[in-house]
Amino acid sequence: MRHFLSLYDFTKEEILEIMELGIKIKREAKVKNYIPYLQHQSLGMLFEKSSTRTRVSFEVGIHQLGGQGLFLSSNDLQLGRGEPMKDSARVISRMVDMVMIRTYSQKILDEFAAYSKVPIINGLTDKYHPVQLLADYLTMIEYGKDKNPIVAYVGDGNNMTHSWMMLAGKLGFELRIATPKGYEPLEEIKNDAKELCAKSGGKVSYHLDPKEAVKGADIVTTDTWVSMGQESEKEKKMRDFKGFIVDMDLMSLAKDDAIFLHCLPAYRGYEVSEEVFEKYADVIFDEAENRLHAQKGLMVWLDKER
Ligand code: CP
Ligand code: NVA
Repeated sequence: MRHFLSLYDFTKEEILEIMELGIKIKREAKVKNYIPYLQHQSLGMLFEKSSTRTRVSFEVGIHQLGGQGLFLSSNDLQLGRGEPMKDSARVISRMVDMVMIRTYSQKILDEFAAYSKVPIINGLTDKYHPVQLLADYLTMIEYGKDKNPIVAYVGDGNNMTHSWMMLAGKLGFELRIATPKGYEPLEEIKNDAKELCAKSGGKVSYHLDPKEAVKGADIVTTDTWVSMGQESEKEKKMRDFKGFIVDMDLMSLAKDDAIFLHCLPAYRGYEVSEEVFEKYADVIFDEAENRLHAQKGLMVWLDKER
């Protein structure tokens, strides 16, 4: 049995297998051919943080696969009143066929997985957001940007940055990360990325100047400066991130046919300008829709592995 806790645990071949399944299932779904690959299966969806895309895509996704999703908010569970995570894991995983969890620390997720009888999917932690990267990679494939792209990530060194680092390391492409000083990715992830790049031929570089990172890029991407759980740091971050907005001036340094990706939700006027956002809205919302298709591929893949 496999869990999907981080891209670190997956080989390039496995990531490609998940993509192929996602593409196939997307093609079928587009002509309303909903094949019940996971008939009668239940997906527990445990949320300790807010969500629009992750909740809707997993709930609709499991339904279209012939199963059902259970939205489990930690506020309404005994978990919220102090029942230990490992007990919740042992109860929930005896009743459902798969569990998706959105939580704070990766350790909580690891603990749940250690006690679970069924596959666990990381629906976002403070450290990683790997299901988002499956959708991003699917979008890269659809836009013809998956062959040795140069990707520039501009903004906060956060769960999205770490996940991009894992994808670049696994697939072997060039990723340039520009963050303000003090907001770099975690050292531990830098080391993992370095180790993966040595094997795959990928390259991850770190910059303090967004222009340096974006120059000649095929893909420019960013994320909110204030992730969930960091609300108290908002004012300081707004000051520290001055000059890190992806605006038309910055985008003009990328390749002429570059695309812009954003995992959403987007905060216009902060990490991205209104103009850039609207110019690339078609790509951004294809990316958002691809959450549904890529995750269906993932769930079917995980089911086949047990
Ligand atoms: N991108 C993403 O995960 O969105 P939600 O927080 O709305 O799920
Ligand atoms: N970095 C953001 C991603 C939201 C999808 C957060 O963790 O809030």
